[in-house]
Amino acid sequence: MAGLFSPFQVKNFTLRNRIVLPPMANDMAGDDGQVTESHIEHYVRRAAAGVGMIIVEHCYVRRDGRYHPHQLGIHDDALVSGLARLAQAVKACGAVVGVQIAHAGARATYNSTGSQPVAPSDGVLMPGGHEPARALTLEEMDEIESAFVAAARRASEAGFDFVEVHGAHCFLLCEFLSPLANRRADIYGGSLENRLRFPLRVVRAVRRALPNDHLLLYRMPGSDFLPGGLTEEEGQQAAQALVAAGVEVLDVSGGMCGAEIPNWDCKSQGYFVPVAAAIKAVVPVPVIVAGGITDPHFADQVVRSGQADLVAIGRAMLRNPHWVREAQAMLGAE
Ligand SMILES: Cc1cc2nc3c(=O)[nH]c(=O)nc-3n(C[C@H](O)[C@H](O)[C@H](O)COP(=O)(O)O)c2cc1C
Repeated sequence: MAGLFSPFQVKNFTLRNRIVLPPMANDMAGDDGQVTESHIEHYVRRAAAGVGMIIVEHCYVRRDGRYHPHQLGIHDDALVSGLARLAQAVKACGAVVGVQIAHAGARATYNSTGSQPVAPSDGVLMPGGHEPARALTLEEMDEIESAFVAAARRASEAGFDFVEVHGAHCFLLCEFLSPLANRRADIYGGSLENRLRFPLRVVRAVRRALPNDHLLLYRMPGSDFLPGGLTEEEGQQAAQALVAAGVEVLDVSGGMCGAEIPNWDCKSQGYFVPVAAAIKAVVPVPVIVAGGITDPHFADQVVRSGQADLVAIGRAMLRNPHWVREAQAMLGAE
């Protein structure tokens, strides 16, 4: 039976184990989102310790989607050379590497973009936000779709193995999916089918833009875990629709801000494992789960029990870049 240190085949890629470094923003980029030496050192250290898959932190596809003034960017061709250095350095350490592409929607701030944040609907205000967002026009939605496509092309030119579209954590595509942020009265709001329409457009367009041998991942909310938000059942339906549109690996996480996640308060291991397992049960593609996992035995059990194919270890690997090596010793794996 496969465990945490069993190799994993997905499409034309072989991961040396089931451990993923999930996207985690460092906010160490240059003023226009450039890769710095600190990024390269940060990712190489973790790749060299043996991580199977690395998802480089969220990169903004357009300036109005920038979450932090020193967020990594992928909105301009001038950034490709720096991203290429990062991709090559990580690949040289044996990890499969991709980059998360994102638009922060209402979570962008005036401080990071110089403009009012945008969202599916007027008045969306995220916790900690200062300025309510304004609704995107249809023309702006076309432009944002094009920005995701251009970002995917740049990721491919930079030599990344895959792209992950960020559709979770109250970012723009998550806001479209959630009834808590999407109150549109047109074909992009209302029913689940309508709320999914824009995220699916982005997925199809990005898939068309990527060469066939590149993987397409999507970070999705398993649920909003909030009254009136995306339900677990809708999360399962969304997962099926995303796969039908071309997503090849689903990275299951949370949705809107302020979620009331069961077991979150007691800091239990793997608080998103149940919702990821529910999604895995209804899709034919691999599923990644993140969320509070620090114990190698727990991570191994998630894989052995078939609840997820790949386990993301985030903060534990920020604290300890050698987590993989130590986990291998602890589990007695070869
Ligand atoms: C410092 C930090 C930065 C993060 N940045 C991102 C990001 O860029 N994109 C994203 O989808 N999630 C981001 N996350 C969420 C992580 O990918 C992960 O889902 C979360 O930390 C839970 O996993 P963990 O308990 O193993 O850390 C971030 C988390 C942290 C702690």
